[in-house]
Amino acid sequence: MNAKPNDIAMIGLGTMGRNLVLNMADKGFAVAVFNRTGSVTDEFVSGLRSGQRVLPCYSLEELLAALEPPRRVMLMVDAGKAVDAVLAGLDPLLQKGDIVIDGGNSYFKDTERRSAALGARGIGYLGVGISGGESGARHGPSMMPGGPRDAYDAVRPIFEAVAAKTDGVSCVAYLGPGSAGHYVKMVHNGIEYGLMQLIAESYALLKQGLGLDNDRLAQVYAEWQSGELESYLLEITAAIFRRRDDKTPGFLVDLILGEAGQLGTGMWTSQSAMDLHVPVPNIDIAVSMRNLSALDDERAAARQVLGSGGAEARPAGGSPPAGLSVDTVRDALFAGTIITYVQGFAQLQHASASQGYDLVLHDVASIWRGGCIIRSALLRDIRAAFERQPRLPNLLLDPALGGQVAARRAALAAAAGAGMAARIPVPGLLTALAYLDGYLSDWLPTNLIQAQRDFFGAHTYRRVDREGIFHTDWSS
Ligand code: 6PG
Repeated sequence: MNAKPNDIAMIGLGTMGRNLVLNMADKGFAVAVFNRTGSVTDEFVSGLRSGQRVLPCYSLEELLAALEPPRRVMLMVDAGKAVDAVLAGLDPLLQKGDIVIDGGNSYFKDTERRSAALGARGIGYLGVGISGGESGARHGPSMMPGGPRDAYDAVRPIFEAVAAKTDGVSCVAYLGPGSAGHYVKMVHNGIEYGLMQLIAESYALLKQGLGLDNDRLAQVYAEWQSGELESYLLEITAAIFRRRDDKTPGFLVDLILGEAGQLGTGMWTSQSAMDLHVPVPNIDIAVSMRNLSALDDERAAARQVLGSGGAEARPAGGSPPAGLSVDTVRDALFAGTIITYVQGFAQLQHASASQGYDLVLHDVASIWRGGCIIRSALLRDIRAAFERQPRLPNLLLDPALGGQVAARRAALAAAAGAGMAARIPVPGLLTALAYLDGYLSDWLPTNLIQAQRDFFGAHTYRRVDREGIFHTDWSS
């Protein structure tokens, strides 16, 4: 329990909200808390240790009265309607100078709208991406704040205290105005989708192509994790292959239905990239493959008509696909991983310019080094690349990172090709390869597309040998 003043208020005591409150309380902050269902608040405060300064409140009026200016009110509720509902409840209680913080995975256009509405009344609205799941919230997430700079300065000591630390530096930095924070978090999740798809494909190649069992898979991913591929996602992948089922004698992973869910952030990333005309095909394909994986009944019906696809269509007992080895898969995964970050950062660079965020991309790379789901050793190199060239439009143009990809281009082609030949769907690896080959080609067959457009729609074209805009009467 707690006497005024509280440092911050938290609305929403779900997994993320309650863990962030505990994290804040551990760092010595006094937190007033409110949950729509009062019994959840009771249950939460009954589990607190003595010394943790948390004040339970049972109405928004009580919650706001427990704060002193500048009043900092944080929402950790489901993105979408729930945020608008809470804001509607808060609306009559808010005053000029108050600060409202949305820590959920809100759609950036919603954040833009809410921030404009509250900003017009002198209320500082911060859209803050928070990554790291339950354990991150409890022990140190990566935090991506956007909104008015002065509002951020008023919450900065709290955020810096609770965020993850990498090399002694907090994984939080002011990113920019308006929806900058939620936009960066959205792209973080898009990259997360792309990386998870590639890791899943490496699993398919190792399992179906090379016949590795779960014990060996756990070993391989743990080995990879200790090298250049070091990342949180590989760390949990190795752990997943070690986990046995508690209901049957097998491994849990083999009993999980391969129907991938999604809450929308990957799709939003792809949609926004399309709006910006930035190619992020590894994110697009990752979203599409989750969609395809969910078409369970339809795929079963198709198998009845067309026969099996994938590796099971291969004759049994055949030798491993030519050109495929554990090391090839590792190198291909590393190349694909870099290319996925490349696409995500290219999107941020474009969005920053067109949406006025003025992002500092080495700060983004820096705060993603700890606490978040896509943290990896590679982010050190990415940060260094943006320190050297802050406006780099594409990380492949950085000689160090570009060189890492070039050195693995053959492995990427070999793994993707072997997957294709063995009927193992590896669209992420193929997409990474095609992105790279397309990006590096001095000729693309898109001259034909221009000719076709001009043929049927008089859309005109430019020529390689002279300046100007041309149209041909193709039917003559
Ligand atoms: C994070 C995660 C987090 C959450 C995603 C899962 O950064 O902590 O990305 O935001 O786990 O919402 O997204 P999907 O359900 O869409 O896979």
